[in-house]
Amino acid sequence: MLPLEQERIFGRTWQLVGRAEQLQLPGDFITCQVVDEPIVVTRDGVGQLHAFYNVCRHRAGSVAEGCGNRKTLQCQYHAWTYGLDGRLLNTPEWEGVENFERADYGLRPVQVDTWGPFVFVNLDPQAPPLGEVLGAIPAETAHMPLGRMGFYKRIDYEIACNWKVYVDNYLEGYHIPPAHPGLFKEIDYKQYRVETFRHYSKQHAPIREKPDSLYMRHLEDGAPAQALYYWAFPNLMLNIYPDNLQINIILPLGPDRTVTIFEWYVLDADRPDVAEEFHKSFKFSDLIQKEDIDICESVQRRLRSRSYSTGRYSLLRENGVHHFHGLLAEYLQG
Ligand code: FES
Ligand SMILES: [Fe+2]
Repeated sequence: MLPLEQERIFGRTWQLVGRAEQLQLPGDFITCQVVDEPIVVTRDGVGQLHAFYNVCRHRAGSVAEGCGNRKTLQCQYHAWTYGLDGRLLNTPEWEGVENFERADYGLRPVQVDTWGPFVFVNLDPQAPPLGEVLGAIPAETAHMPLGRMGFYKRIDYEIACNWKVYVDNYLEGYHIPPAHPGLFKEIDYKQYRVETFRHYSKQHAPIREKPDSLYMRHLEDGAPAQALYYWAFPNLMLNIYPDNLQINIILPLGPDRTVTIFEWYVLDADRPDVAEEFHKSFKFSDLIQKEDIDICESVQRRLRSRSYSTGRYSLLRENGVHHFHGLLAEYLQG
């Protein structure tokens, strides 16, 4: 199942691979991996963003490692040189090779795009554009200062469950009363609902107004903080607040192992008081994460049970899970 999911789901959807700030200047590049493909993303001399398979067209050497700023990309193996726009520029000791046009041996391109502070790559040349997949999300968050939110910290949680178990869990609030008693006190559970769209869903989780709220953070004008929660198929979660933003990227490590990459972005991230200011939020979010991990690992052990094959959906509370399963079926079929 996992190889099929890698090919048909992760190989065909927009994957968040980096931050726009890492690719701001001409010559900036980052390397990353999507499914099992090594990828390099570059900003060329005229400011155009590109992504390529990080695979030399000669003997499949690596043309870039890590990240940084360079004028050209050079293969580690026999030093072929490529432009940041992917064109093959130089092939040492190549005299006399016939029927060879450098123009035919540029790096193979991959779709790349950005939204807010993030860079996305899609291995499928036929995939719908990122803007189409994100739908109304950019417009709905246009008033949030996403561009000013800088990377603050990253925590990787390794979980002994299938990646879909973790996503299922994220997509419903049904488990909040029994599984997250602390969170339950913070939100207005009755109003909690999930709205689904073509490739993403949106959770409405109104925060209870109370003086010691862990969510309702200082807003200069005293207005209640609005929070937006999105999930984009298949593996990206965005929790957006007026002064900070969290992303979760869910990646399968094996059939029953998953890593959740949890990143925090905060407004003016280089302020010295960020750690103190967000201390309570960090702790609270870590607690919720651990509660979810315990559930997901317990569920994973039981999914194997000979007694279990499938379960039904709550109409009121699990439309987001149903929507996810529909997309899975659609992508896996073809
Ligand atoms: S493999 Fe890249 S130059 Fe030979
Ligand atoms: Fe949860």
